Amino acid sequence: MSEQPCDSSAPTLFTWEFATDPYPAYAWLRDHAPVHRTTLPSGVDAWLVTRYADAKKALADPRLSKNPQRHSAAAHAKGKVGIPGERSAELMTHLLNIDPPDHTRLRRLVSKAFTPGRVAEFAPRVRTLTDQLIDAFEERGEADLIHEFAFPLPIYAICDLLGVPREDQDDLRDWAGMMIRHGSGPRGGVARAVKRIRGYLAELIHRKRGDFGEDLISGLIRASDHGEHLTENEAAAMCFVLLFAGFETTINLIGNGVYALLRNPEQRAHMQRAVEEGDERLLAAGVEELLRYDGPVEIATWRFATEPLTLAGQRIAEGEPVLVVLAAADRDPERFAAPDVLDLTRRDNQHLGYGHGIHYCLGAPLARLEARTAIGTLLRRLPGLRLAADPEDLRWRGGLIMRGLRTLPVTWNSTG
Ligand code: HEM
Repeated sequence: MSEQPCDSSAPTLFTWEFATDPYPAYAWLRDHAPVHRTTLPSGVDAWLVTRYADAKKALADPRLSKNPQRHSAAAHAKGKVGIPGERSAELMTHLLNIDPPDHTRLRRLVSKAFTPGRVAEFAPRVRTLTDQLIDAFEERGEADLIHEFAFPLPIYAICDLLGVPREDQDDLRDWAGMMIRHGSGPRGGVARAVKRIRGYLAELIHRKRGDFGEDLISGLIRASDHGEHLTENEAAAMCFVLLFAGFETTINLIGNGVYALLRNPEQRAHMQRAVEEGDERLLAAGVEELLRYDGPVEIATWRFATEPLTLAGQRIAEGEPVLVVLAAADRDPERFAAPDVLDLTRRDNQHLGYGHGIHYCLGAPLARLEARTAIGTLLRRLPGLRLAADPEDLRWRGGLIMRGLRTLPVTWNSTG
């Protein structure tokens, strides 16, 4: 690793306290060590980039590769990088792990099938799913919004969009749950879940080839660009990334977002009024601010220097991992006025919550649709919603990449 002056006052990262509130540590890093070398809990050394301007540059820098094989051999020997289950070679060739020209080709193909129009047509289904989930607990007057609402919504939604038959969706939900629960723990659970998902997707894709429908998997198989199609493995990897890039992220956007509203009564009242008056513009802007303020993707996925380079004055050697800390960049006072304040009417809110550059979130239109529908419907149907736990007692799930609440106990007056 390239050298960096040692500073004994640097905050301790990736502890339980850090997961609960990482923002003071990020403020320190932005001020004192904006490109900071750290050893991750896995034992891998990596550079953390925390200022907005540097983060944006790094996300668009072609010298930073997404291919895990660009990780220097010496660094690689110390530990493993990648999202859980990515050792599975068949599912490796997805968008977040590849560079141009392969990335350009695959992204073009998937964009032909996964269009904003397809997402817009899906809006009534997301509304129905949201209402059904609320129906199940409305009378009770209390719920855990993570388990009963934020967790099932995105997985059922993406399963429907992909064309996973309804009778199989609970299996997918359970496997996805295993991946989240074991994501930063023992590897066995993840490996088992990935194996089942891989087998299931291969079989489903095979079935769809023989009987195309209107669903996204059929669209992916049929999509062609200058006569090129996705191979079976590419189609399976694409379905895998669509299932999982949008799963924990959306859970956390709904969970962190509702929590932020409940902790900020004035802003919540503002959002409540917008929802009751049908002000879609404010609802949309509000969801963007929730994403900036406490977004689900703490750190963008791994990048590796393909050549020696300098970032904000810091030398980075070839093969070294660079992690762009989106959550720190989105609280940078150089870019956002009063960044630690939740302001749903904030203007010029160009946050990095969906990334930037060629890997910008492919699912952003779906994520926005789900988050607006979920948060809007919740406030409209349960206007008396309030937190049913002491914030000090809430636990955060803090993997390296994502951050979100494990549970969100809420209550309301069940007569409305
Ligand atoms: C990429 C955030 C939901 C699919 C990304 C990236 C971010 C992100 C930050 C870039 C990662 C990087 O550059 O390392 C989010 C957030 C979401 C969300 C905050 C929800 C609130 C979704 C959904 C889907 C999805 C619902 C699909 C159904 C993808 C895919 C990529 C991606 C396929 C890779 C794109 C590429 O490499 O070209 N997302 N995402 N995401 N996202 Fe999302």
